[in-house]
Formats: sequence, C-alpha cells, structure tokens
Amino acid sequence: MAGPILVFDSGVGGLSVVQALRRRLPEAALAYACDNAMLPYGQREDAWLVPRIRAVCEAAVAASGCSALVVACNTASTLALDALRTCLAIPVVGTVPAIKPAAQMSRTRHLGLLATSATVSRPYTRQLIQDFAADCRVTRVAADALVTEAERLVAGELPDRATLRQALSPLWKDPELDTVVLGCTHFPLLASWLVEEAPRQVTWIDSGEAIARRVAQVVTALAPRQGSEPSFITAPDERLGRGLATFGFAPPRLLHPA
Ligand code: DGL
Repeated sequence: MAGPILVFDSGVGGLSVVQALRRRLPEAALAYACDNAMLPYGQREDAWLVPRIRAVCEAAVAASGCSALVVACNTASTLALDALRTCLAIPVVGTVPAIKPAAQMSRTRHLGLLATSATVSRPYTRQLIQDFAADCRVTRVAADALVTEAERLVAGELPDRATLRQALSPLWKDPELDTVVLGCTHFPLLASWLVEEAPRQVTWIDSGEAIARRVAQVVTALAPRQGSEPSFITAPDERLGRGLATFGFAPPRLLHPA
C-alpha cells in the first residue's frame, strides 16, 4: 500500500514546499518531519550534519511509513543527498538553490543568492553556479537571521522588519542585480515581507514548484489525503505544534533518532 510523501527540514522551512506540493498534488497524503532540536542546520559543521540528517530521516521514514522522502532543505540537500539515497530504499527528492532558472531569467546577468551560511559556501553551490550561471555575476548572501524570522512567523509572531532589511541589504549594492534566488526553504514563507522591504523591484525565485513537479514525476502511486496528517519533531515545542496545525498537520510525535 502507498504511504504518504514525507517532507523533511531542520525546522518550518519545509512548509513552503508543503504549500507547493498541496497546489500540485492536492489529493496526496503528506507527512512532515523536522529536526527542531538541532535547528539551525545552516551554522553547523558538515561532518556532524551528515550522520544527524541520516539518523533523523531514517527515524522519520520508519515512523511515517512513507513512499518517498522530500528533503525540503537546501542545507541538508547540498550535503547529504547521496548519503540518504544510499541508506534509504525509497525515492529521495532534494532541494537545491534555483540557480538555473534564475540564470535563464536574468537580463542583467547579475543574480543574488540568499541562503544559509552553509549553503552559500558549499562546493555543491559553487558547482551549480559554474554549470548553470557561468556567465552571471552571483552575489552570495548568508542570511541565517531569516531562518529565525520564518520560525517566529509560523509560531504566530510577526517578523522583525529591521532584521529583514538588514539581511537583504548586501543585495542592493549593485543596481544591476535583477533576480534573487531564495536558496533556503524558510525564506519563501517570508516572501510578502521580503518584497515589501526591497527598495526596488526584482524577480524572486524559489525551488518549491520545481520540487513539486519532480515529486509528481517520481511518485507514481499516491496515498489519498485523509484528515489531518502526521508530523514528527525531535524536541517538544507547543508553538511549533500549533504552527504545524495551521498547515494541516496533527499534533507532532517525538522522534528518537539513533
Ligand atoms: N530550511 C533550511 C534550508 O533550506 C535551512 C534552515 C537551517 O539553517 O536550519 O537550507
């Protein structure tokens, strides 16, 4: 029997991918897992992150009985996709910064990449830029503060506008920059605030729709959606539970990764 599609992130960022999946596959059963005990991933050591991501995903896959895993986290995907594909017997769909579509859209050939400290400096990201945006200038901006703001938003608070403005400011130094890649799944949750804080109009691109498209290709037998859906966390957090409920998830169960 087909199981749900499990969406995994360090925190609430994967909920932006849940929104894209619900638009493309409204009938599909989803499950959500996040490693909130170890958030944020973007400022942790790679050598520590790989076994941690693997342990949490293995525990969440077993607990959810899912048929596919969506790693809805750029920081995890640019590091641990191969490790996850080796240890899991189900399809694994990753999330990487949308450099390729951004390069296709930019007229000025100057892109901004807004992501976590880890993602902006990863060899995987450098390679993406080399492969798909070699003729572009790419201003890479580490914006870890936006992860916290997105977490606050889902917990029911308003984001702090001064923090958003400051995080975005390195993007505006060159008036030629015309396209911004949201290379962290937390950031699309803040999209309307980011647009408001931008001093001029640019094109904002995230990976949500592309991931949903890929999932629809990879997962052929979909379990039907019925009522509120399972969610899993790694540390008790009432506000997070309430936030997950607003996205259609049942009260989270605690995971115990090995
Ligand atoms: N949502 C994650 C991403 O797409 C990162 C958040 C974190 O730093 O944990 O990269």
